[in-house]
Amino acid sequence: MRSSVRRAGGLVLAAMMSVAAWQALAQVSARDCPQPRFTGKAPDEYYNRKNPFSGTGNPDPRRAQAIFEGTSGSENCAICHGRKGDGRGELSRLYDPPPRNFACAQTVNGVPDGQLFWIIRFGSPGTSMPPHPGLSDDQIWQIVLHLRTLAK
Ligand code: HEC
Repeated sequence: MRSSVRRAGGLVLAAMMSVAAWQALAQVSARDCPQPRFTGKAPDEYYNRKNPFSGTGNPDPRRAQAIFEGTSGSENCAICHGRKGDGRGELSRLYDPPPRNFACAQTVNGVPDGQLFWIIRFGSPGTSMPPHPGLSDDQIWQIVLHLRTLAK
């Protein structure tokens, strides 16, 4: 009796250990929700910045969407993040960690606009997220509002 209890306990332990090993080895995927974040925290001066359009609403949502989708010029976020922001753009398979899945509310809700602004402006070192010096502050704030509409 006793030994069978001990054996059962050992089996449970072995099962738990193999789950942990599997999790450590499994690659982070664009489909993960929530998705782990590899991006650092913005300095307070950015982190605490308020989105100037959050009270008034996005003055030009179509433009923000066009920049995101890459139909308005040189910038193109969708090539990595996907048109719907699901992290499954054409290039997404090339990158580890994968591009953020903005469609996953659990990953992005609660992250302040100032944090997202900082990453879009300066990029995320150690990941493929590039800096965007060519976008104006207003454009970035409006793209942040566009990203918020993609979360479910
Ligand atoms: C070459 C691929 C690539 C392009 C192009 C790209 N991104 Fe990213 N982006 C990434 C990766 C990779 C990350 C890091 C994900 C992580 O930290 O786990 C990221 C992270 C982010 C984050 C941080 C999200 C968070 O939750 O911390 C934001 C915001 C973001 N991208 C917005 C944009 C916007 C807006 C554009 C276009 C103007 C853009 N990205 C273009 C690959 C890309």
